[in-house]
Amino acid sequence: MATEQTVNQGEVDVAGDGREMLSVKDERTGKTYELPITDGTIHAPDLRQIKVNEDDFGLMAYDPAFLNTASCRSDITWIDGDKGELWYRGIPIEQLCEQSTYVEVAYLLINGELPTKQQLEQWTFDITHHTFVHENIKKFVEGFRYDAHPMGMLLASVGALSTFYPEAKEIDDPEERYMATIRLIAKMPTLAAFAYRHNLGLPYVYPDNDLKYPGNFLSMLFKMTELKYEPDPRLERALDVLFILHADHEQNCSTNAVRGVGSSKVDPYSAVAAGVAALYGPLHGGANEAVLRMLHQIEKVENIPDFLESVKEGKGRLMGFGHRVYKNYDPRARIIKKNVDEVLEATGTNPLLDIAVELEKRALDDEYFTSRKLYPNVDFYSGLIYQALNIPTDMFTVIFAIPRTSGWVAQWLEMIDDSEQKIARPRQIYLGGGPRDYVPMSKR
Ligand code: CMC
Repeated sequence: MATEQTVNQGEVDVAGDGREMLSVKDERTGKTYELPITDGTIHAPDLRQIKVNEDDFGLMAYDPAFLNTASCRSDITWIDGDKGELWYRGIPIEQLCEQSTYVEVAYLLINGELPTKQQLEQWTFDITHHTFVHENIKKFVEGFRYDAHPMGMLLASVGALSTFYPEAKEIDDPEERYMATIRLIAKMPTLAAFAYRHNLGLPYVYPDNDLKYPGNFLSMLFKMTELKYEPDPRLERALDVLFILHADHEQNCSTNAVRGVGSSKVDPYSAVAAGVAALYGPLHGGANEAVLRMLHQIEKVENIPDFLESVKEGKGRLMGFGHRVYKNYDPRARIIKKNVDEVLEATGTNPLLDIAVELEKRALDDEYFTSRKLYPNVDFYSGLIYQALNIPTDMFTVIFAIPRTSGWVAQWLEMIDDSEQKIARPRQIYLGGGPRDYVPMSKR
């Protein structure tokens, strides 16, 4: 196992040719190794040359949960956690939320550049005209129990798309990749809305090609007997901003799942299904649900001081605060907060908002939270918006998955074209015993 004792000396040298090098002395053998540093990293396979003898497998890096391991080079998303910055393809998230739409952002993430007017028209047309799903998918969703979790239904139905488009496994064919990209982005809201309507026992609503991407989703969720659903532009815009904010977040659990599964060269529907499965977990996609539960539990503004004391005593966490990467205000939280007011103007006030605003204010004034760099994250306010939109908590993660699909696909496409990538195959440190003999049942 690689421990601090085995790599006990590390210093940066500049090799004669100007390359940065790390010099590592192995105290076990007294040998020194020169490891090139590229982009602030050493190439982990270079460690394999560090051996005690010829039979030694060579040194490995041990990094459960990949806390300090870059698994790819990527041009897609940049996060600076200390500064609270998030860029898609180099463009700050604030500018995208203010000036762009989710559909355009999806183009940017996937193609690397903002589209021209004509490119955007074609892209929007293609997405709009692939929102329908095969009727058998509808029957398939009907087969779920009435109370099936919508995320479970989404996971299954996205995976099932691969059986409707078997040609998608031709992942080296640019046309097939394009069609799978379009279909995934276009059909995700349809699948999500079918799952929602299934839970309510309501008939599924077919897509409306006259509506924009977020408006069409609202229509598929909420349309009843009216001939045409007309989304409130304020709600449509708020949803579009939420979609932009959630479109990508570099190498997190679900993106890693998409890349890992996709590295076997499976079709993209199956790879995205893996991403949906990862997002289903409460540590990834479920925090905004927990924020609402917490706000309900606090019940009224007067109870906030006692609640904060209990958090400081270690009796639970302040949900929606803190982030693995952002050690400053999560830029997405700042943007969402602005949207909350607009949404509530359209839907009427929500008493939980008063609690949230006061809670945030007090926590940001409290040394316990500031000294630990705990600031509101994207989930602190997103649950309130979803609730104001009348979306049940079980659907929150499903809605997260809709825009994240463009990020997953962008990451998958980047991986497919990356000549350095291979099928994902981590190493392990074997701690089991053996070899030992099989014991027949009669002798156990
Ligand atoms: N409330 C109270 N204390 C906290 C919180 C919190 N929300 N988060 C961290 N701490 C404390 C923690 O107890 C520890 O204190 P001490 O040093 O005294 O032991 C210190 O802060 C560092 O905690 P950590 O667990 O090492 O921090 P982390 O960066 O590994 O955790 C986190 C990140 C998001 C898991 C955590 O902050 C948390 O559980 N937050 C609440 C859940 C939440 O809002 N999750 C959504 C994250 S955003 C989702 C997305 O980007 O997709």
